[in-house]
Amino acid sequence: MLEPCGDSATVLEKAQVTKLGAVYKLYADRTRQRRGQVWSPRQRRGRRAIVALYAAVNRGALSLAHQSILAYARYRYLKIATAAVVVAIAAYVWDRPPNGRYGGTWLGYTLGTVGAVLIFWLLYFGVRKRRYASNAGMVQGWLSAHCYFGTALIVIATLHAAFRFGWNVHTLAYVLMLVVIFSGFYGVYAYLRFPRVMTDNLGDDTLQMLLIRIADLDRQSRQLALSLPDSINRLVLASAQGTRIGGPWFQQLRGRDPNCPTTAASNGVQIIGRKLAGEQAKTNHQLYTLLLKKQELVARARRDVQLKSWLDVWLYIHVPLSIALLVTLIIHIVSVFFYW
Ligand code: HEM
Ligand code: HEM
Repeated sequence: MLEPCGDSATVLEKAQVTKLGAVYKLYADRTRQRRGQVWSPRQRRGRRAIVALYAAVNRGALSLAHQSILAYARYRYLKIATAAVVVAIAAYVWDRPPNGRYGGTWLGYTLGTVGAVLIFWLLYFGVRKRRYASNAGMVQGWLSAHCYFGTALIVIATLHAAFRFGWNVHTLAYVLMLVVIFSGFYGVYAYLRFPRVMTDNLGDDTLQMLLIRIADLDRQSRQLALSLPDSINRLVLASAQGTRIGGPWFQQLRGRDPNCPTTAASNGVQIIGRKLAGEQAKTNHQLYTLLLKKQELVARARRDVQLKSWLDVWLYIHVPLSIALLVTLIIHIVSVFFYW
């Protein structure tokens, strides 16, 4: 939770928390050396390359999804995945088992095995990413294959099940798989779109710089308010102490605070100011200008936190549900062999 008031050191410290808590996890947290871990120079070089890759993605300098990932090696993995899907459909159409198509025919077993192997491999990507003795190019290739083979699974698993679904653990595995895949689609979209929107929103600033400027405006506003009525002082104090950027995850995703004390202060100062005259009216106008400026900076800081959380949120579905998928898939496989 960030409160852009107080001295710059605290502000920076808090900003760092949010930074690590959000998008910077992509290239900082996930590539950090764990306690007791010893890296070879090769691993160290690999990690540095990954950090550079994620940093570039973050800056919007590298359009991960469009150029480097989806178009990787001239769509090599799109071609392989399409070929696999065409072969699977052809085999499905060609195969006419006497008891009808289902997961237990030879083709059903073959497609199921291919699907399961793909899922284990897709899951292994998480492990692989953290154990680099690899470079950024290699990770891009893995991620490209990950997206296309992951998508091909929709066809392979559906043909394996021969479109037979029910209220059972087999279909649960299938549904989890679909949710993981569709969250992956969102992830690619987010990586493609949000870094650029973030750059547009921040311009040459960083979140820390915004917070420092907000803290500075707070100091100036409180100074000005000293010569104004108590009611105005109370509003300015509430704005300085109660304005929050970040907060719980749903608030981060929402990106605004309907009860924002800064908005309340600028509205209040404008209304109370109408009754003031002379020097006080002039000071009040200056204060109002500062509060409007703060409102704008707060909105931009909130937007930044919001975009970071939208960039990250899908992984909270993608990764845990991948594990749930693994568990249900093992139950599915064990149960069909048990009843066999
Ligand atoms: C080694 C891998 C796999 C094997 C040996 C296997 C085996 C089977 C068998 C024998 C059936 C027929 C069960 C029956 O109709 O009584 C079946 C059905 C099914 N399998 Fe698999 N399977 C595998 C992988 C997968 C994967 C990766 C998925 C998707 C995540 C999946 C989803 C389903 C579904 C949804 C059904 C239909 C269940 C129903 O009829 O209600 N299976 N599987
Ligand atoms: C059943 C299918 C899938 C499984 C089991 C799966 C599993 C995983 C796992 C375990 C990770 C590593 C997450 C981490 O280390 O933080 C990952 C990352 C990722 N997945 Fe999937 N995935 C699947 C399908 C897809 C699909 C279809 C797409 C996109 C079209 C996709 C896009 C991504 C992306 C972009 C990442 C990288 C996240 C990052 O490094 O920040 N996934 N996936």
